[in-house]
Amino acid sequence: MAELKTSYLGLALKNPLVVGASPLSLQLDVVKQLEDSGAAALVMYSLFEEEITHESLELDYFLNKGTESQPEAQTYMVEPRNIQSVADKYITQLQKIKKSVEIPVIASLNGVTPGGWVRLAKDLQTAGADALELNIYTLVTDPALTSDQVEKNYINLIQEVCKHVNIPVTVKLSPFLTTLPHFLARAFKAGAEGFVLFNRYMQPTFDIESLEVDRIARLSTKADLALPVRWIAIASSQLKAGFALSSGVHSSEDMVKAIMAGANVTYVVSALLANGVKYASRLLEGLNAWMDKNGYESVGKMLGTLRLDKIENPAAYERANYLRTLKSFDERVL
Ligand SMILES: Cc1cc2nc3c(=O)[nH]c(=O)nc-3n(C[C@H](O)[C@H](O)[C@H](O)COP(=O)(O)O)c2cc1C
Repeated sequence: MAELKTSYLGLALKNPLVVGASPLSLQLDVVKQLEDSGAAALVMYSLFEEEITHESLELDYFLNKGTESQPEAQTYMVEPRNIQSVADKYITQLQKIKKSVEIPVIASLNGVTPGGWVRLAKDLQTAGADALELNIYTLVTDPALTSDQVEKNYINLIQEVCKHVNIPVTVKLSPFLTTLPHFLARAFKAGAEGFVLFNRYMQPTFDIESLEVDRIARLSTKADLALPVRWIAIASSQLKAGFALSSGVHSSEDMVKAIMAGANVTYVVSALLANGVKYASRLLEGLNAWMDKNGYESVGKMLGTLRLDKIENPAAYERANYLRTLKSFDERVL
């Protein structure tokens, strides 16, 4: 049996299979089954900035409306402390999860403005989160914004949160940053201990009959794996941060590829949603079998064996390979 232990964000994990942020953390019995099936850690679904902003606007509206229409409204208005906010519900769910499983639990904040995040980050730490994942999910559509302004905002957010919590912070990123290695280096300096590559954009399209934009969350496929594998191979050779590969892990061999590229852990979501939570144990059994068959005694020994600075021809991950890859197709068809 191969040794599957790994570490990520200073957390000692029994193997590299981490359940990524998703509805899989909504129900305690599902979370328990994930732990029983071998998952080494769990990232909770995200607490979204929009939900909180929307909620506080709604509350504001409700309170002001009441006081304007009835002078005595103050006396019968619902006490704000009785309204369980989105954030409170999230914290309660985190506490329940922490009580029901032993694996580390990573809380996830999804937003782009520092404001309330610092307080929330502290609350999540107090509630027992083992680490915090900042999901910087934003689609910049304003032509007046430069990439530098956008990235400065992100760094500011990371710095503020890291300054105020003691638990490790990892940052989940989009693959669309202009100069990823530079951004990662800045974020690392700002206090991020790890990175999740990548967030998968849902890419809504529209229905040409109903003329509606469709908002269905699609599951990933194996084809989504290539992009994070390549960037983890590059980034893990440049930074001593923790790396989680997220997007397209559907088989044990995909896990091997991610680890060889330099991922300390692999996040899995779509494969579990498609095949059921027990699929986690099949992935782990397959990983073990593959490592035994191929003579790898531990994940530690396999980690980063194919990252950029370990391979003979680093250009293979860079542009020089582009031409050769295209040519390989010509050779097959001509
Ligand atoms: C239904 C669904 C819900 C998700 N919810 C979240 C979320 O709340 N926060 C987040 O950061 N990522 C969320 N994700 C993205 C996943 O965490 C993950 O990054 C992505 O699905 C790629 O991994 P996969 O190929 O294993 O699915 C969600 C994905 C799916 C399919």
